[in-house]
Amino acid sequence: MALIAILAGDGIGPEVTHEARRVLEALGLDLTFEDGLVGGAAYRKTSHPLPPETLDLAHRADAILFGAVGDPDMDGLERSVRPEQAILGLRKELGLFANIRPATMLPGLEDSSALRPEIARAIDMVIVRELTGDVYFGEKSRGFTHTGLREAHDMMRYDEVEIARIVRVGFEMAARRSRKLTSVDKANVLETSQLWREIVNEIARDYAEVKLTHMYVDNAAMQLVRNPGAFDVIVTSNLFGDILSDQASMCVGSIGMLPSASLNDWQGSCGLYEPIHGSAPDIAGQGKANPCAAILSAALLLRHSLSDYASAERIENAVKAAIAGGARTVDLGGALTTAQMGDAVLAALK
Ligand code: IPM
Ligand code: MG
Repeated sequence: MALIAILAGDGIGPEVTHEARRVLEALGLDLTFEDGLVGGAAYRKTSHPLPPETLDLAHRADAILFGAVGDPDMDGLERSVRPEQAILGLRKELGLFANIRPATMLPGLEDSSALRPEIARAIDMVIVRELTGDVYFGEKSRGFTHTGLREAHDMMRYDEVEIARIVRVGFEMAARRSRKLTSVDKANVLETSQLWREIVNEIARDYAEVKLTHMYVDNAAMQLVRNPGAFDVIVTSNLFGDILSDQASMCVGSIGMLPSASLNDWQGSCGLYEPIHGSAPDIAGQGKANPCAAILSAALLLRHSLSDYASAERIENAVKAAIAGGARTVDLGGALTTAQMGDAVLAALK
């Protein structure tokens, strides 16, 4: 029996996670679920966004299904207790350095893309984002300059081990797909990126079958809208991956469609699965959110943490079929509620 921790969190997190759980339950697998408090919801009850009981549950679980964290009412809180610290803390505590963000154009959604349909149709890529380093976790400070100006800094830093392990995930992923890897950096300006590029080139020697391209992040942002079909696997650092994956989501129709897996290894004995969208407070509690990203995250959970490839494909095919059959939430130009979209996926489960 596998234990799945459900950390639904804030905003639309609980609504979309509920649908993902319904789909998992419908598969009739030997799973047990345990809920944990996280984010702003946890802060309200325990004065901490990532209480020890939740961290304990996360350690005990075979996999974590995560919703979203973020609450505008808490914008004024000190950073260490803001809801976002929950997800950053989980990534760090569990060593989830490898974030896999597939972005594929599902047939039928071409018209929802921010791009022209003939450009959008070709999108089938995976963004491999480093998740526990970079400017996210470097030293930070607020202070004053010697002339009394307010000043802040966030340190961008990587060591070679941190770079090498994520780059290997990128190569492994590329080797299993179309053998094309784009490493995204800003090596014309940043020292961290120069080290990144050096290490990518060293590791490339072990993967002669993979065609490697280096690309600056500004160019990558441009190519992502100009010719996204040219990308297969992108490997990049934490901050660049955060930005490029939001951009990729609009290319495939909606940020409500993109799932992600955060793993502590290429094979991922421990994994956290979450939609890449946030808590979307503006539509929370209205039944408007698209649950597909959460449902597809559940598919990634089955594949990466439970090695249940058949069930993962069943879920992915059901989402594809529901979309092909015309099921659309508001973000996709339709009128289905979150629960109705969940129903459409359930009905398409074979
Ligand atoms: C993401 C989110 C998070 C991030 C936030 C909520 C801290 O944007 O998972 O992409 O920046 O990593
Ligand atoms: Mg993001």
